Amino acid sequence: MEVVQEGRSGMGNVFTRFNGDFTDRHLLSMHQLTAGDIHLLLADAQAAEEAVRNPAERGVNILPLTELKAVMRQPSTRTGGSMATAMHKLGGGAQVISGMEASSEGKGETQADSWIAFATQADIIGTRTDRVGGPATAAQVINMARRDRKLVGHVPVINLGDGTNEHPTQALGDLFTIFKKFGTFEGLTMALVGDHERYRAHHSLMIGASILGIKVIAVESMVAPVPDDFTRLGGANLERTDDLDAAMQRADILYIGRNPDEYSGDNITERERSKQLAHDYTKWVVDRRRLQQMHKDAIVMHPRPRRHELDPSIDMDPRASDVQQMADMIPMRMAIIARLLGKSIKEERDQRLAAAS
Ligand code: MLT
Repeated sequence: MEVVQEGRSGMGNVFTRFNGDFTDRHLLSMHQLTAGDIHLLLADAQAAEEAVRNPAERGVNILPLTELKAVMRQPSTRTGGSMATAMHKLGGGAQVISGMEASSEGKGETQADSWIAFATQADIIGTRTDRVGGPATAAQVINMARRDRKLVGHVPVINLGDGTNEHPTQALGDLFTIFKKFGTFEGLTMALVGDHERYRAHHSLMIGASILGIKVIAVESMVAPVPDDFTRLGGANLERTDDLDAAMQRADILYIGRNPDEYSGDNITERERSKQLAHDYTKWVVDRRRLQQMHKDAIVMHPRPRRHELDPSIDMDPRASDVQQMADMIPMRMAIIARLLGKSIKEERDQRLAAAS
């Protein structure tokens, strides 16, 4: 098994590259994926979407009696819920745990012991943590328990956002939206706007863009620029600018995220940085008027929650694709869950349709 050597959240044998084989793996970072892996997931997500839309199917019943736990240690409206919906559409069951206040961690239980408890109840775990590398730690704890024969089977862990680091399922869903719109990644240019230092959705998407050869124009603030490892990763496919309008005029995709100011500390330097970033965000507001400079087939994406940076006046414009993007997370998360549990939605559905015809 090849272990990914890149990544920002600490290494360990849990970061195995997929290379077409999703079994016995955890999904912790976009660095684990090859272009081929992404295309397998896109094909499965496409099949999942068709199955969900077909009133006679409403999903694919390929994981009956299979249980997902979505353990959200940070706030979530979309990700936890769409993971649960994805699992239901696969025929399984799901529980979303929002915050650990009501758990035994309040009685002094360690996070490691919580992970083992969840692993005894679930076939697959998704988790969001405020700490960078939190899902990787969960995966390590679970792997060790399996090695020690305390757990009988592999329980894959999916990173649903680890602090300021990564959000791979978001990026994969985003790539699904982009692929459905353009039918290819070749020749595409994406303007990526916001805090490049702390916004995990940007990080995972930048890794995906580099794997697939999408050109990125990072519109950045001097106080939250593209980190060095991402600059190296982007290479010739990455441009950096502070001119949002010029970037929009050249882009097929405008991807903007909010100011993740929950990470701002309260020392004086951090407060100053935060003030400057908030000021830069006021210059990046995308409204209906500003949108007119993009070409007519371009799309505007935002992982939500949005604040003032994506003005509701764009909602009626056909280029606004952020609601579509939200909906696309479900078939993509179906594809991810199924693959990690050894199933390809496309293959299973094709077989079923062939047998029925
Ligand atoms: C996340 O990273 O949790 C969300 O998807 C995006 C955000 O918080 O702005």
